[in-house]
Amino acid sequence: MHAYYGIENSANLWTDKFSPRVLADLVGNSSAIATLRTWLSNWPGNQATGKASKVSTRKAILISGAPGIGKTTSAILICRELGFQTMNVNASDSRGKTGAVSDGIAGTLASTVREFVTNRNIGIDGLRSTKTALIMDEVDGMAGGDRGGISELIEVIKHTRIPIICICNDRYSQKLKTLANYCVDLPFQRPNKLQLRKYLNQIVASQRLDVDSDAVDALIEANNNDLRSSINQLQLWGMSSKHHGRNEISKKDVATSVFQAIDVLFRPSPLKTLDERLNLVFQHSDMIPLFVQENYACMRPRDSTNELQRIVHVAAASSRVAEGDVFATTINKTQNWTMMPPANIVSCVLPTSAVRGSRETFGQAERHTHRFPSLLGKLSSKSKSQRLLSELYQHFRSSGRSCSTQLEFCLWYASLTKRLLTRPLFSQARGGKELDGIPDVLNLMQTYNFTRGDWANIQEITGLSGKGPTFENPNTQIPTNVKSTFTRSCKRELQFSD
Ligand SMILES: Nc1ncnc2c1ncn2[C@@H]1O[C@H](COP(=O)(O)OP(=O)(O)OP(=O)(O)O)[C@@H](O)[C@H]1O
Ligand SMILES: [Mg+2]
Repeated sequence: MHAYYGIENSANLWTDKFSPRVLADLVGNSSAIATLRTWLSNWPGNQATGKASKVSTRKAILISGAPGIGKTTSAILICRELGFQTMNVNASDSRGKTGAVSDGIAGTLASTVREFVTNRNIGIDGLRSTKTALIMDEVDGMAGGDRGGISELIEVIKHTRIPIICICNDRYSQKLKTLANYCVDLPFQRPNKLQLRKYLNQIVASQRLDVDSDAVDALIEANNNDLRSSINQLQLWGMSSKHHGRNEISKKDVATSVFQAIDVLFRPSPLKTLDERLNLVFQHSDMIPLFVQENYACMRPRDSTNELQRIVHVAAASSRVAEGDVFATTINKTQNWTMMPPANIVSCVLPTSAVRGSRETFGQAERHTHRFPSLLGKLSSKSKSQRLLSELYQHFRSSGRSCSTQLEFCLWYASLTKRLLTRPLFSQARGGKELDGIPDVLNLMQTYNFTRGDWANIQEITGLSGKGPTFENPNTQIPTNVKSTFTRSCKRELQFSD
């Protein structure tokens, strides 16, 4: 990096100017980088012998980690060091046929990528070949599920003749669940404060910036160890000639994301004044109370030396959260917004102060960061279920065979109806006899004016999430041929269709 200190062009971004040119310049994650190197340099060997362990024979690797900590840079540098040429695809930028960003590599680009990864001449085994690797950056920006993006990428991984390095921010994103099964898992950690301080101080010195060393520390903290935004901030400071001290940062110089704010609130080190904590909450006052509710019980309070004390602290936080809820409801009812500051103190500042410390992980694969409020996901599935239920109920009522209310239908009839609509379709019979249940189901659907769409929706609204036979979705037990014949018969015979 030192070689680049001399270049003077204020139009250049410092993140580019000081971007590591060789692996040794990278801050942190040395063991992850070593793993990447081993995987990449063994890649041809794995493919040839097929004897290596299951993990190392995977044809793709998934680098995950917070923004601005050098994931993309590491991938590019390591490929270069090992003599790989790279094709770098930013998955969230690429557009498919429809032009939608979420198309990922579907559409036109997909064929380019496919050609690239399967072409024998570019592969590693041909004599004329140069070594090549594909870097798929920001795969969490791709469409999930079966909409082309991720599943397309998985297909590409299955057939690839060259190594594929996928990069994402959130390894635990629901969308990446299947992809992760095809990839070696390689989490990157945020570099620690010490490493970052050294790196940033070098930039401060080389640019002769008038910045205190504790301002650098505060900068790192405020940016949550994101090296890229810390460097950007330094560059901004470099444009003015004034002195920069620590206080600068606490004046909300750096806008805080909701994740950063929640991190700071739960952090063990004593944070600032009540005002400053409250300010943090006010930056995202719609979200932070939800984050607090989701996460307070996972904290190991720094003041607790045994389990009992821990429970006492968590219980105190829990009471505040409950009181905060009362505040929020009252504000909503009365529209008395002047109550917001005390409400935020009760619902966010006090509970986070009571339990601040380190985060506890309960499951093995659980990530070590604060969780997004699950309430929001639940609210959205609730409103979807309600919409589906009311559609179903309208059809049910229109048959004139029952005068129950929607609630009664939901509580008494829905599960039974599901049973009657699915059971006949998964008999163990063979040789064409497995289709025998279809007329019964159609008959019932005709009687109650249900459509094929209702048939699917009722599975969804009565489904329970959990493991074991009780929770199994009967839909999955129905043989494919029965299901397709059933769908065709619905189209043919039902009076109401979707
Ligand atoms: N570990 C690091 N060592 C040195 N410089 C770094 C490091 N991490 C980030 N930087 C600086 O930040 C810039 C951006 O890094 P990079 O694009 O690799 O981050 P990223 O982890 O891929 O982020 P994102 O998740 O947003 O894509 C680099 O050009 C470099 O200047
Ligand atoms: Mg990147």
